[in-house]
Amino acid sequence: MSIWVVSNKLRPLNPIDFEASDLVIPAGVENEFNQPLREPAARAAEAMTAAAADAGVPVRIISAYRDYGTQVALYNSYVARDGQAAADTYSARPGHSEHQTGLVIDLDDHGSCYLMGCFGETPAGKWLAEHAAEYGFIVRYPEGKEAITGFMPEPWHFRYVGPELAAEMRSTGIVTLEEFFDLPAAPGYAE
Ligand code: DAL
Ligand code: ZN
Repeated sequence: MSIWVVSNKLRPLNPIDFEASDLVIPAGVENEFNQPLREPAARAAEAMTAAAADAGVPVRIISAYRDYGTQVALYNSYVARDGQAAADTYSARPGHSEHQTGLVIDLDDHGSCYLMGCFGETPAGKWLAEHAAEYGFIVRYPEGKEAITGFMPEPWHFRYVGPELAAEMRSTGIVTLEEFFDLPAAPGYAE
C-alpha cells in the first residue's frame, strides 16, 4: 500500500480488514502497547523521537499499528461509553482508521495532556508540530479542519507520508491530505 494512502470516513481501507506488512517495532523508544509500524514509518519514528529527546522534549509512543480487530474493540468501547455520535468525532470506525495502515503514531510526553487537545500546547507538542515534516510526518487532524478530516483535532497523531510530501505540504501550506490530493471532504460516513 502506498505511503500516500488516504483513509477517512469516505475512504475505507481496501479490503476493509487490510493487514499491513513490513511491520517492525521501532527501536529505542518507549512504546506503551508495543505496537509495530511499517518499516519506513518505524525508522522515521525512531529518528524523530531521538531528536525530540535530544531537544529536551522526550516522547513515547502510545499507539501505532492497530489491526482491524483491535480497532473493532476500541471503537466499540468508545461507543459503549459515549454513544456512537460522540465516538465518531474522535475514533474511526474499523476499516477507516489510519492506524490500520501502520503509518501512524500517537505520541505523549508523560504529562497531563495524554491524548488531549492541550498536548499541542506542550513543549513536546510544539516541537513535534514544528519538526515532524523533517521526518516525513504530518499532524493529520489539525485544528479548524474538522469538516474536512471528519475528526476533532489530534495534535498527538502523526501520520507518515514521507519527507518529500511532508515538505511539499509545508511549503504549500496545505495541511490536510484531502485538500492536497483534491479529494472530497469527509465530515461523516456515507451511511
Ligand atoms: N483517533 C483516530 C481518528 C482513529 O481512531 O484512527
Ligand atoms: Zn491516532
